[in-house]
Amino acid sequence: MPHRPYVIDVMISAKTIAARIEELSRAIQEEFADTDKLVVVGLLRGSFVFIADLVREIDMPVEVDFLEASSYGDGMESSREVRILKDIRGQIEGRDVLVVEDIVDTGYTLEHVIHLLESRKPRKLRTIALLDKPTRRETGVRADWIGFEIPDEFVVGYGIDFAQRNRNLPYIGKVRFTDGA
Ligand code: IMP
Ligand code: MG
Repeated sequence: MPHRPYVIDVMISAKTIAARIEELSRAIQEEFADTDKLVVVGLLRGSFVFIADLVREIDMPVEVDFLEASSYGDGMESSREVRILKDIRGQIEGRDVLVVEDIVDTGYTLEHVIHLLESRKPRKLRTIALLDKPTRRETGVRADWIGFEIPDEFVVGYGIDFAQRNRNLPYIGKVRFTDGA
């Protein structure tokens, strides 16, 4: 099925994202100052660019792991039913863990992942999301750090996709359909 035609309007530039990541990494280092090795868990696939930039700004030993949860499929609406498609490889009991998410939308994904990882008894678990759409929230979850609060717009770029397109844009842009439908 051909996709509806759309253009992408820049919402957050690459430069603005980089500056914010510098600030966030300082806050993370402070929070985990007494940690010997931090376990950074990226939620696939949308967080892969963010996690790559974030860990390179964090000046302490880190382990990188990934977890894949699904709630969106190829559409623009959350299914609200979260499934774990790929679990992390490492053990986190007694460890200090940072979960890295691209966007918190309804909040079902992050809530489910926090619940799952907390059940494995980490010493400390914190969460960071690049983007937050607070007006869309249907759960009580909130990330400990947020890059940017954004309005209820569908966004792409910097790792984030629309039906597996546009992940490779260096900035965050919003999708605007041009077919008037
Ligand atoms: P939640 O479970 O509704 O919070 O959904 C979170 C996930 O939905 C994010 O990790 C994204 O993968 C996806 N998502 C939410 N909003 C957008 C968007 O604007 N563009 C692309 N993906 C999105
Ligand atoms: Mg995601």
